Amino acid sequence: MSVPDRVVEPTQPLPAVPAPTPSWTATVAPAMAEPVSPVPPTPLRAGGHPAPAPIAPAPMAPAPMAPAMPKLSGLEARAISAWFGERKVLDRVSLDMPPGVITSLIGPSGCGKSTFLRILNRMHELVPSASLAGEVLLDGDDIYDRRHKLVDARKKIGMVFQKPNPFPAMSIYDNVVAGLSLTGVKVDRDHRDQLVETSLARAGLWNEVKDRLRQPGGGLSGGQQQRLCIARSLAVKPAILLMDEPCSALDPTSTRVIEETMLELRNEVTIVIVTHNMQQAQRVSQQCAFFLAAQGQPGVIVEHGDTDAMFSTPQDSRTHDYVTGRFG
Ligand SMILES: Nc1ncnc2c1ncn2[C@@H]1O[C@H](COP(=O)(O)OP(=O)(O)OP(=O)(O)O)[C@@H](O)[C@H]1O
Ligand SMILES: [Mg+2]
Repeated sequence: MSVPDRVVEPTQPLPAVPAPTPSWTATVAPAMAEPVSPVPPTPLRAGGHPAPAPIAPAPMAPAPMAPAMPKLSGLEARAISAWFGERKVLDRVSLDMPPGVITSLIGPSGCGKSTFLRILNRMHELVPSASLAGEVLLDGDDIYDRRHKLVDARKKIGMVFQKPNPFPAMSIYDNVVAGLSLTGVKVDRDHRDQLVETSLARAGLWNEVKDRLRQPGGGLSGGQQQRLCIARSLAVKPAILLMDEPCSALDPTSTRVIEETMLELRNEVTIVIVTHNMQQAQRVSQQCAFFLAAQGQPGVIVEHGDTDAMFSTPQDSRTHDYVTGRFG
């Protein structure tokens, strides 16, 4: 086993939470911004010429209020290696996940996709035997830096798991706000109703549940439960949303709704999704990374880039074989 240049040892888990453990981690963003499509900044003057100096100072008219733009965050993994005990399962994986781009992680079972995803929000270190090397930069700041607390990463980088895991006996309303206290986010009572509505609306669930908010989350369908978990993650206002096969347990209709939700969220939160569904990767992601682990070897990224190009003109024959269904 090669010696990592920096190994992050397991740390103490977050305080215990009622079962089942929420599958999310959460977020922070200065304020819940309304969904607004990003618009490139308009140059002050076409052609880049400086404006002539005014002859006499004119009375200042109040500038028109620009719509609040959500600030999208980017994530960058640098030379990530991971171990479970002595067994190395990822080898120096680097990937840039730019703001506002949906990145899909694809590859055969066991190649390290979920491990990589969990490293992106410091869940990997909760496994007692786990260690890792490398850096994960959120807007240029290493989330593993000793100055940062574990809970900080959880606030900023949310996660939705394969199996929807709302608190089944807890009401839909309470499920949405369940992540706030666990991540130390305070929202006063007056703003809670608004936050619940906004989060459910962003997750594409509001219209289906607005008349039954006090009913248990466990009474929803699987697809609705998954969107409830997405709403629970969004309530903490994450900068990044990680999704590990979020539709693999769902029917085609629920899958379509969640895919639509993802595409709408793209303007507000940067999404990284693991999927075994090649059509889904093509439908929702703009960037794709193909992971592969040779027999007995740790996983690596064989190829990554523009999703359409990865599927139409892959550069590596192994990518071609995988995306055309020859193995995996
Ligand atoms: N808690 C763990 N303890 C020990 N080994 C583990 C643990 N979790 C995962 N592994 C091993 O790490 C490797 C990568 O697993 P991982 O779950 O990341 O793969 P994956 O690409 O997500 O697979 P799948 O597509 O089946 O979900 C596998 O060999 C797996 O057996
Ligand atoms: Mg997995």
